[in-house]
Amino acid sequence: MLNRIKNLIEEIDKYTASNLEEIEAFRIKYLSKKGIIPQLFTEFKNVPQEQKKEFGQLLNTLKNNVQDKVTSLKNNLATNEIVDNNIDTSLTGDSLKLGTRHPVSIIRNEIIEIFVRLGFTISEGPEIEDDWHVFSSLNFPEEHPARDMQDTFFIESNPDVLLRTHTSSVQARVMENSKPPIRTISPGRVFRNEAISARAHCIFHQVEGLYIDKDVSFADLKQTLMYFAKELFGKDIKIRLRPSFFPFTEPSAEMDISCSLCKGEGCNVCKYTGWLEILGCGMVDPNVLKSNNIDSEKYTGFAFGMGVERIAMLKYGVKDLRLYFENDLRFLKQF
Ligand code: DAH
Repeated sequence: MLNRIKNLIEEIDKYTASNLEEIEAFRIKYLSKKGIIPQLFTEFKNVPQEQKKEFGQLLNTLKNNVQDKVTSLKNNLATNEIVDNNIDTSLTGDSLKLGTRHPVSIIRNEIIEIFVRLGFTISEGPEIEDDWHVFSSLNFPEEHPARDMQDTFFIESNPDVLLRTHTSSVQARVMENSKPPIRTISPGRVFRNEAISARAHCIFHQVEGLYIDKDVSFADLKQTLMYFAKELFGKDIKIRLRPSFFPFTEPSAEMDISCSLCKGEGCNVCKYTGWLEILGCGMVDPNVLKSNNIDSEKYTGFAFGMGVERIAMLKYGVKDLRLYFENDLRFLKQF
């Protein structure tokens, strides 16, 4: 009996299999309910007491060896299969194709970097806003026609809930939550109920800027924006400020840069004026400071806001705004 087990151990050690079926047959032969090992365990009862220890140890070795053999046969088979499939693991793999950044992201990041170098922090606010932060706290009187300048998407059941039409709403949130000096920019998505065309879209991106401290003047605004324009468009760019109107700034202005395509000579992009409008700006209206509990006798500030798509169009010579939202790879791959 002991010899029989020893022979079986040797037999198992030598055994090889070339496929899964053979391994399974081997496993069944030894380990299934009626297999050799359960049978030997049954016979164990009849073994004389003095042999039980040796017999038991050998029987356990046999059982473990069979289990180990099944596992190692399966592992060998798996490794061989890979080799059989002619996969040469020393070959270099296919490299993953990297995507490119979206042009709007590239320009947004460039704008952010310029202002961060000037010490501006970055603030964000919600896209779904309330009337107070988008309009009322920014000096848009109720029923005032200035609200029509921005075609707002309202939530029908509650007109106090709306999609922000400009990132100036983040100004209001920053003023509400911090004390001057404040120097921050707010990049983000905005929404307007506009018919989609080459020049207008219902979703676009803006970067808003806000600087509030003691003795901030219009000269500071002009110098900051001139630095910004030269960093973004190159040292030869000129700027000009035209008087304008925004409810939240007084005085207000729009800033043009000299047309980078025709160098101011006149072309169809600048409509033969030599100038391109790129942003709105002004001195923060004292009413806005008051609405946000900032002492307008002590502090002054400037603000500005620009459309990222528009600036990207000017920098890259893109003529149709819709291209930014169509995700056509032939367009996106160029950046
Ligand atoms: N919020 C304005 C718009 O969406 C842009 C703007 C103009 C922002 C003047 C400003 C500003 O902060 O001072 O049209």
